Amino acid sequence: MRRLRTSQELRDLVSETTINLNKLVMPVFVDETLKNPQEIRSMPGIYSYDPDSVDDYAEKLRNMGIRNVLVFGVPSAKDPMGTEAYNPEGVSQKAIRKFAEKGLVVMADLCMCEYTDHGHCGVLKEKTVHNDETIKLYGKIAVSQARAGAHVIAPSGMMDGQVKAIREALDSDGFSDTPIMAYSAKYASQMYGPFRDAAKSTPSFGDRKTYQMNPSNAREAIREMELDIIEGADIIMVKPALFYLDVLKEARNRFNLPISAYGVSGEYSMIKNAVDSGLLGEDAISEYIMSVFRAGADIFITYFAEYLAQKGQHRVRV
Ligand code: PBG
Ligand code: ZN
Repeated sequence: MRRLRTSQELRDLVSETTINLNKLVMPVFVDETLKNPQEIRSMPGIYSYDPDSVDDYAEKLRNMGIRNVLVFGVPSAKDPMGTEAYNPEGVSQKAIRKFAEKGLVVMADLCMCEYTDHGHCGVLKEKTVHNDETIKLYGKIAVSQARAGAHVIAPSGMMDGQVKAIREALDSDGFSDTPIMAYSAKYASQMYGPFRDAAKSTPSFGDRKTYQMNPSNAREAIREMELDIIEGADIIMVKPALFYLDVLKEARNRFNLPISAYGVSGEYSMIKNAVDSGLLGEDAISEYIMSVFRAGADIFITYFAEYLAQKGQHRVRV
């Protein structure tokens, strides 16, 4: 077995998995309360952008060779109904428009937790998120994002029937060509901690366990993905990636539509901090990215996209 391991060239020649920038998506936070880009305290090297800096950042990404972004908006005003989420001139709609104008593929995260004052992913009835009232609003949000120029709508709220509701809303507003990337198997994970800092979306009471999945379940993830496919998802997702590679692999074996994986904020911060402090060697980053593609992802949403672009790891070694 060692014959094909004798040089980097030979190792590259026979490698089964390559990291390709076209397959990476950079998540981006645009925060209406900011005046300048600000580093996220719990995510070293990752910034939240003020609305006016989006153009420059979009150009920077393009010049680095990054094609795809997943946009999150953080509004300056929140209320129980999350009305800013479907404001045609809301923070995410404006950011989507700018990224699209700069030629990036714009995926719009669709959720309400950044927009509600209680921080839950939908509207409340008593103290729980009301499923069917919420998915009606998801339809409205999807249409506002598509009108702003989003190329892909990515619902992350884990409401039942959300994909169907969004598909119908898009179709009836003339957006039958806009694909849906469904956060299908999204677990109630501690790995979202740093994101909630950036998105200011920590629930003010309770947690998300009544809508996001129980980490103990893998078969249930298959049911979630099957349902989303029936409802019309074009791309399904497993999230987080690192602790759920088994789910990703199983999805790869069963389904033939594109599968995305989301390497979430906690994965990023764990690895980034370990590398920055010298606890792990820098190659831990590409080893991590490789593990997700090796498990079967077609698309990887990762905060390391810029790092990988800078490293030139997508290029052929000469
Ligand atoms: C909102 C949403 C979350 C993430 C993506 N969309 C957080 C959550 O469910 O609390 C997590 C992303 C990350 O941690 O990088 N529904
Ligand atoms: Zn949410």
